[in-house]
Amino acid sequence: MSFNVAIDGPAGAGKSTVARAVARQLEMIYVDTGAMYRAMALYMLREKVALEDVEGIVEKCQHADISIRYENGAQVVLLNGENVNPFLRTEEVGNAASVVSPIAEVREKMKRLQKELAAKNDCVMDGRDIGTCVLPKAQLKIYLTASSQVRAERRYLELAAKGEQGDIAKIRADIEERDYRDMHRENSPLTQAEDAIFLDTSHITAEEAVEAILKLCRERRG
Ligand code: DC
Repeated sequence: MSFNVAIDGPAGAGKSTVARAVARQLEMIYVDTGAMYRAMALYMLREKVALEDVEGIVEKCQHADISIRYENGAQVVLLNGENVNPFLRTEEVGNAASVVSPIAEVREKMKRLQKELAAKNDCVMDGRDIGTCVLPKAQLKIYLTASSQVRAERRYLELAAKGEQGDIAKIRADIEERDYRDMHRENSPLTQAEDAIFLDTSHITAEEAVEAILKLCRERRG
């Protein structure tokens, strides 16, 4: 049976950095489920489906074939055969992903693919509903979070490193709005699974979070 680690939490808590590092150390694959929802959002933007048009999204999502491939250990998301990694990390696509991801048909499609990956591989999977819905039997579940102020400051620094100017108050407001949508949607809202371990990264480094999770993995894996 494969060993699965589920890491859930709000946007900007450091899930992907931490999950990727844990997976590398344990020689497991890292599955970034947010990237899969982003690929679906990108498809809707490209096809010019209005984001308010739920029926249109449901219809179109049947034509989006999303799959995952690994190249040198890194996840490559394929949208109808095209590597779309370079287009996924924009604010526009992130916001669109937050709008398309609550739709039941979209989630069912993604969930099926995620369950298959986890059944076949030892993996660290991060997202919003991994511990609660996708992998309820994961051997280790982590709920990783940080205050919205700290998450906004981190995002601001990321943008600055790319030479882009950000406004912390605006970034924080966007983060809080996205949290609200993710936590209050009808389908698979972001919540902490009962058996998940709560880890607040507001005042610890990513390395410290990784160490804490590695220790738990070693204990659980025996
Ligand atoms: O983690 P991220 O920012 O890449 O996620 C993009 C959007 O996808 C985010 O608004 C929440 C949604 N998402 C989801 O609903 N379920 C997941 N398992 C992962 C992401």
